[in-house]
Amino acid sequence: MKIYGITSLKDVEVTYSSLLFAFQVVMSELTNPNILVGVTGGIAAYKICELVRRLMDTGASVRVVMSPGAEAFVTPLTFQALTGNPVHTELLDSNAEAGMGHIELARWADRVIIAPATANFISRLAAGRADDLLSTLCLATKAPIAIAPSMNQVMWSNAATQSNLEVVEQRGVQIIGPDNGDQACGEVGLGRMSQPEEIVAALENESSQKHLKGKKVVITAGPTREALDPVRYLSNYSSGKMGYALAIACHRAGADTFLVSGPVSLPCPQGVERIEVESASQMYEQVMIAVENADLFIGSAAVSDYRAETLAPQKIKKQADKIQLNLIKNPDILAQVSALEAKTYTVGFAAESENLQENARGKLEAKNLDMIIANDISIAEIGFQSDNNAVSILTRTDRLDLEQSPKRLIAEKIVDFIVQKL
Ligand code: PMT
Repeated sequence: MKIYGITSLKDVEVTYSSLLFAFQVVMSELTNPNILVGVTGGIAAYKICELVRRLMDTGASVRVVMSPGAEAFVTPLTFQALTGNPVHTELLDSNAEAGMGHIELARWADRVIIAPATANFISRLAAGRADDLLSTLCLATKAPIAIAPSMNQVMWSNAATQSNLEVVEQRGVQIIGPDNGDQACGEVGLGRMSQPEEIVAALENESSQKHLKGKKVVITAGPTREALDPVRYLSNYSSGKMGYALAIACHRAGADTFLVSGPVSLPCPQGVERIEVESASQMYEQVMIAVENADLFIGSAAVSDYRAETLAPQKIKKQADKIQLNLIKNPDILAQVSALEAKTYTVGFAAESENLQENARGKLEAKNLDMIIANDISIAEIGFQSDNNAVSILTRTDRLDLEQSPKRLIAEKIVDFIVQKL
């Protein structure tokens, strides 16, 4: 990672005030949060007694929900004695519904940590099941969810488990561990649950990153589709992966995150509000509504610059050897947001196949942006559709090159950089 920049007294002041802001956010995040601990049926369930103690040591208020399988390893009474709160086990419990039913518990929680998270529970989380208390809670809560997987090493490396993990991670679930080492089944490998102190550290670390708490962020993602007739459209190869990764990173940083998304096959990230659109005009309309009072706008969508001048009401027939398509310009969403009177910090992307830096800087100036992310799309391993990317972040005074890495990490680094500038 290379950093180019100008260090002036003003930059130092900005860094100091961002640090102060970050410190205040960390203090408020760690002030007695409500943490819901979900215990599922794995041998590591016994370690959760220690986890609960350590979470309470940080000042957290802890409530425990156990899956039926977990009760085979530890009794609810143990957790009740440790937390001083009743332990919840049943989805349909007339006593609980009168007090802390599943919706109340889901609302009460500031954080949810599932530990140990078995392969079975992870698959149920990926599938969005709601047939027991813990899975229903996970669907009903707006709180960030973390899981600490624990299972046999072969089960961990199984393609089904890995694909379930990918699904939940894409939705914004934090995955803590697992560790490598001796397993209860006698095998050695990856799959041992992380130690309670590591889980607490990972949760605290996540909380300390809430630099965008109280900020509203609007992000565009994916392609747009410009209809030609009832069955055909103009579009591009954008998968939405980059924009969705940014939405997850902003939500993790504590922002109220709105994702205006073109048609993609990705699930809506946990805690993010998604507004689905098809065309550039629809994206423009929805962005202009969503961007009111926004602190930050990130345009990562590959918006079609043009649309058909007229939309054929019926399917265009294959008759003439040559047909002409007249295209007219779409509104430039990014430029319009940047021109708004209420100034929102505006970040664009520049997908370029040549003269990357020069063209990106040209767009930074032409659209009067605060920042632009220069994205080389001439290399197959990065850019459109790929899981990885490599970009340069440009402002008028700085440049930061991010080497090729998963879009999730690129998004986190972009958000970190924006936080410094905000
Ligand atoms: O979705 P993925 O498969 O993960 O791929 C990610 C990506 C390559 C699409 C993404 O990283 C990216 O580079 N997005 C911008 C693509 C693009 O359309 O770039 P552009 O140079 O044509 O547009 C410049 C900027 O203006 C972009 O921020 C774009 O969102 C915005 N724009 C463009 C036209 C328009 N009518 N309205 C806009 O807001």
